[in-house]
Amino acid sequence: MSKPARKILVSSALPYANGRIHMGHLVEYIQSDIWVRFQKLRGHDCIYVCAADAHGTPIMIKARQEGIPPEDLVTRVAAEQEQDLREFGVDFDNFHTTHSPENEQLVQRMYKALRDADHVYTKTIEQAYDEREGMFLPDRFVRGTCPRCKSEDQYGDACEVCGATYTPRDLVNPTSVLSGSTPVWRESEHYFFRLSAFGDRLRRWMKVAGLHQNITSKLEEWFGAGLQDWDISRDAPYFGFRIPGTEDKYFYVWLDAPVGYLASFLHLCNSREDLDFEEYWREGSEAEVYHFIGKDIVYFHTLFWPAVLEGSGFRKPTSVFAHGFLTINGKKMSKARGTFINARTYLDFLQPSYLRYYYASKLSPAMDDIDLSLEDFAAKVNSDLVGKLVNIPSRCAGFISKRFDGRLSAELDDPALFEEFADASTAIAELYEQREFGKAIRSIMALAEQANRYIDDKKPWQMAKDDALADGVQAVCTQGLNLFRTLMIYLSPVLPTVAADAERLFGEQGWTWDQATMPLLGTGINPYEALLTRVESTKVEEMVEASRESTQQAAATPAPETISIDDFVKVDLRIARIVAAEGVEGADKLLRLTLDLGEEKRQVFAGIKAAYRPEDLVGRLVVAVANLAPRKMRFGVSEGMVLAAGPGGSEIFLLSADSGAVPGMRVK
Ligand code: 2FM
Ligand code: ZN
Repeated sequence: MSKPARKILVSSALPYANGRIHMGHLVEYIQSDIWVRFQKLRGHDCIYVCAADAHGTPIMIKARQEGIPPEDLVTRVAAEQEQDLREFGVDFDNFHTTHSPENEQLVQRMYKALRDADHVYTKTIEQAYDEREGMFLPDRFVRGTCPRCKSEDQYGDACEVCGATYTPRDLVNPTSVLSGSTPVWRESEHYFFRLSAFGDRLRRWMKVAGLHQNITSKLEEWFGAGLQDWDISRDAPYFGFRIPGTEDKYFYVWLDAPVGYLASFLHLCNSREDLDFEEYWREGSEAEVYHFIGKDIVYFHTLFWPAVLEGSGFRKPTSVFAHGFLTINGKKMSKARGTFINARTYLDFLQPSYLRYYYASKLSPAMDDIDLSLEDFAAKVNSDLVGKLVNIPSRCAGFISKRFDGRLSAELDDPALFEEFADASTAIAELYEQREFGKAIRSIMALAEQANRYIDDKKPWQMAKDDALADGVQAVCTQGLNLFRTLMIYLSPVLPTVAADAERLFGEQGWTWDQATMPLLGTGINPYEALLTRVESTKVEEMVEASRESTQQAAATPAPETISIDDFVKVDLRIARIVAAEGVEGADKLLRLTLDLGEEKRQVFAGIKAAYRPEDLVGRLVVAVANLAPRKMRFGVSEGMVLAAGPGGSEIFLLSADSGAVPGMRVK
């Protein structure tokens, strides 16, 4: 009897909802997607969830800069992220958002459990505060001179030059990145989670979680240094969930972000009868839960997160898998070099299968950084995928179609060779299971070389010309195609779209891992269509150039500037009555208005001719900027401005004052 299917839940780290997916992100999504596809291919119940990480100050600020509510920013960015990832074949069972009712409900449930078990306490702390903006500043929103090496313009938590870590208070000449003002230090009550009480429990979890050596050595270091309690609250204004029982305290984004894994899963469970949320997340659950993450967020996932789960009565992850960072051409991704490549830009020039294959060939369970050398990328894809893999069917399928009515022979030419390919199944599966994708690829490619050697030896193109041997061509090509089919099943977690095309060639659908060990004989196949084309190096160059251009354009477009409240106060807004209005000769769009500002009359030129007839304006109360410097125009001097809203043209709407207003009255 075959083993029962495992119930597995997999997550990838949640991308912040304030930017596009780039090549660095893709390392993780491709890695997890391959692993999930492999588990599904093996017949397991594997669910893959993700979500947009919606909360926190940077997202709140970005939305403010765009002049839209943060909810709208998150919805837009999350949709772009999901779309980009889907086009790379990343097949989530659910992509949700942490700004969701499911997440709020779960965060509250966890928080209340932690509070009731006395795992949370409050303490007053001092924090940098921007008086102009009226808000507390996260460490990264304070910049200044490094206290150690004196390098200027460093973040408030660490120096990028000498590597020193500190608090914003230690910076010399600190300034707020929001207003440029000098922050003051202000007290506020914060909520803390007693991480320090979880040391023993975390050590026990670490032993059973089968964490990679890279992670356990980090953990040993952190245990050695002593676990610090964790500040889980932030003051308003903050985009997040309010802490129950408070008016102006919010959960820190890093508290609700991993809960987003559960929330995305809960959202899925709510639409699927066969999934039971509690079955996966209750303490003692037999389901397996794995988080794929990058090495920079190991602390959150192997200390805070399991401790929060433990303290609130949920099960802990079965394991956490961390990968390293991506470099491109041996260096950090760089906008100037054109190597800060967004997923979308890649998709404009190259096929996702290439990158999936290249990343897979470099991935291992270790936290080592991986390098995308663009030259090597093109060479490897062309040599392995085009030169070795799809070369097999392209040399065999034509003979079957043209000479044998599209039918495979009833027997293989070399059953022992096929057995060798089938026998590799167990070892290759184990490599996938252990996330040794690079080794799996090497094993599969060694078999592809063997398959090519077989075809080279047999030379079906010569056999076909020799009457005595022509009958054997069918069995040889059937052999070649079956070797290819087995390899393609092994590679299908990495190359799902190529595998789907290969399934069509064989008239099959929904391959399972076991089918790799069973040859397909005596059946019809479909005409062969090219499965992959070569990577053109010109396309790679164009992609780099496009990335350079798009980042240069972005740099050239100034970010919408904010003004401080002090700047705003300087604007003298007054009620004015329009006492005369007329067209301006030689100006299609302008009206000359005479405004009564109570103590004086002013002439103002306004570009509102397409929206208003002059006669309809006379007598109307409007809002005017009274202290705008006079501006000399071709038709005369304009001595102020009337305020209006709307997209322009005929859709301009003057801001009108209500009937109680009188000319000259201040608006603010
Ligand atoms: O580091 C990041 O990009 C975070 N947005 C990852 C969050 S993962 C999880 F905890 F939600
Ligand atoms: Zn320094």
